[in-house]
Amino acid sequence: MEWIPDNDNVQRRIRAMCDRVEQIQADGVYFYNMPVSELRGGSKVVVNGRTMGMFASYSYLGLIGHPRINSAAKAAVDKYGTGTHGVRTLAGSLSIHHELEATIAHFKGTDDAVTFTSGYATNLTTVSTLVGRHDVVFSDKLNHASIVDGCLLSGAKFVRFRHNDMEDLEERLQEAPRSASRLVVADAVFSMDGDIIDLPRLSDLCRRYGAWLMIDEAHSLGVLGTTGRGIEEHFGLPGVIDIKMGTLSKTIPSVGGYIAGRSDLIKYLRHQTRAYIFSAALPPAQTAAALEGFRVLEDEPWRVQAVQKNARHFIDSVRAHGLDTLQTRTAIVPVLCGTDERAFRMTAEAQKRDIFVLPVVSPAVPEGMARLRATVTAAHTEEEIDTACDVFSLAGKTVGVI
Ligand SMILES: Cc1ncc(COP(=O)(O)O)c(C=O)c1O
Repeated sequence: MEWIPDNDNVQRRIRAMCDRVEQIQADGVYFYNMPVSELRGGSKVVVNGRTMGMFASYSYLGLIGHPRINSAAKAAVDKYGTGTHGVRTLAGSLSIHHELEATIAHFKGTDDAVTFTSGYATNLTTVSTLVGRHDVVFSDKLNHASIVDGCLLSGAKFVRFRHNDMEDLEERLQEAPRSASRLVVADAVFSMDGDIIDLPRLSDLCRRYGAWLMIDEAHSLGVLGTTGRGIEEHFGLPGVIDIKMGTLSKTIPSVGGYIAGRSDLIKYLRHQTRAYIFSAALPPAQTAAALEGFRVLEDEPWRVQAVQKNARHFIDSVRAHGLDTLQTRTAIVPVLCGTDERAFRMTAEAQKRDIFVLPVVSPAVPEGMARLRATVTAAHTEEEIDTACDVFSLAGKTVGVI
């Protein structure tokens, strides 16, 4: 491609990223895209030929590899094959899509639900379909990238409020033109910090200022609430969220995303969202796995109690070692390292001792706030958690974090 000049912007961006990646690889602290080659029970994996304790998984209830879910996926392949006949609106809908959507609606206590092929696509298409020019969308500063991208794509006025700061949100709601329709969007549990949105005050503000409320439950489904139904159950506020978004790729060990809500809202999304109309349907195996995942979640409520107990124990133990875990109260446990370099070195120390944990660095988090983004699941034993905490402590001391 000699015809492209060196100062071409596309060329410069490619080079800048490659330079950064290659430098990290040369320093021997590149930990991304590492392939897991095998599962070993619910809490261990094989990576680079070594069995490691998995402390970076989204499978909060330890359902990846659950025999019932594996069997359901295999049976769906035998019944429907491996693909669908196209997009949902045309020939792509299967009876198990409808069963899954009815099950989600029932589980979330709504009239109806619609599924998409990823959580990312769900947020992107839903936000950008619901609001447009002349509307205002209010988004927490730490919301997931898929929400941010949906807001940008929508063409609505994009207002970001300070993280979990209801005074700031109220001021911004007051500033919005009276004639504008308003949508407020937030994560239930923030994906980098693990803290929980202040739903009681948020829903009250939405009611008072006539705003729609959309909450992303990617990290709260199965984790919050006595039966894992999520943030409304956690706060004892059934029905306060208008647009309940979730993923099928975390607690539910499949892939995809959903919106649950009023029947007219779901009918509208089914006929207006571009990700539903212009992209192939969820494949049979993944749909069946998600459906069985919800059934297991209802049949095995002890898993919800286990992840909550393990999260409390993990957070308390990491803190007892003098490490900073920010405001988390959930299964996502940031272990603050400071500089990117310290986060990389601390990861290396942990992995050397067979704890599989990964670093999150800038720009995914603010500079100086690089961290290990550890997660705990229902599948961990107390002993495994204690071992991981000892390893973090040792690693923290080695790299000078504590
Ligand atoms: C808060 C949040 N929303 C949405 C998504 C996207 O979901 P998916 O990975 O299922 O596309 C993620 C993924 O990590 C997430 O953390």
